[in-house]
Amino acid sequence: MGQRSAGRIVILTGAGISKESGLDTFRDADGIWARVRLEDVATPEAFARDPATVHAFYNARRQGLLAESVQPNPAHLALARLEAEWPGEVLLVTQNIDDLHERAGSRNLIHMHGEILKGRCLACGAVSAWREDMTLESRCRRCEAAGYLRVDVVWFGELPYQMERIYAALEACDLFVSIGTSGVVYPAAGFVEAVRSSGRAHSVELNLEPSDRHSAFAERIYGPASEVVPSFVERFLSEPG
Ligand code: APR
Repeated sequence: MGQRSAGRIVILTGAGISKESGLDTFRDADGIWARVRLEDVATPEAFARDPATVHAFYNARRQGLLAESVQPNPAHLALARLEAEWPGEVLLVTQNIDDLHERAGSRNLIHMHGEILKGRCLACGAVSAWREDMTLESRCRRCEAAGYLRVDVVWFGELPYQMERIYAALEACDLFVSIGTSGVVYPAAGFVEAVRSSGRAHSVELNLEPSDRHSAFAERIYGPASEVVPSFVERFLSEPG
């Protein structure tokens, strides 16, 4: 890390950070893709072919997220603490579509794969908060067109959000921390390469087990996010100047 007070930090999170809050990951043995084919529910073609099935898939996940038992865990809270206490910029880029980072207090946040609690109208383009079930009859909050709504989530084959801003931050950062992601889905899996191209930043992987990109990281710490993330943040914030 260069001048610590000016150090810029980029954090990438994946489904593993929300696992201990009660949300399923995708590629673990008990993950979502072990139960349903992504080709049936998470592509534009699936939505064109069978929108009711896609709505039902996200309706079930949305209601699961809104359950009282699903709360930010110590890993989410530790990242919000880092943003609040670190004097330099902390940008949190999440692949997750849940709102647990916001609820933990993170503000400088990009949902590169969108948000399950938002809906987007294909008739007028409006994006609005959406917490109830979405159906073929759901009406846009702005233009009131019925049957043109989709969940505001980025599907396979679509371009993730705010990629230019993300790459600019990766190339300028002094520290890149990847948390709870298997490193198999691009472009997020390639972020560590973008950081290494600057030749300046330190890179850390915090995960339950080595990801597909583990060898690209300068430092690797394994264990449950609710343990390794708070201890990493505590150590980082208490390091001398
Ligand atoms: N603490 C830390 N890491 C964990 C924990 C935990 N408690 N439990 C699981 N993990 C790790 C797993 O070992 C795995 O490496 O989290 C990672 C989850 O990987 P995936 O299920 O592939 O999720 P993710 O990497 O976020 O997937 C990326 O793929 O399906 C698409 O759009 C979807 O955003 C998602 C993207």
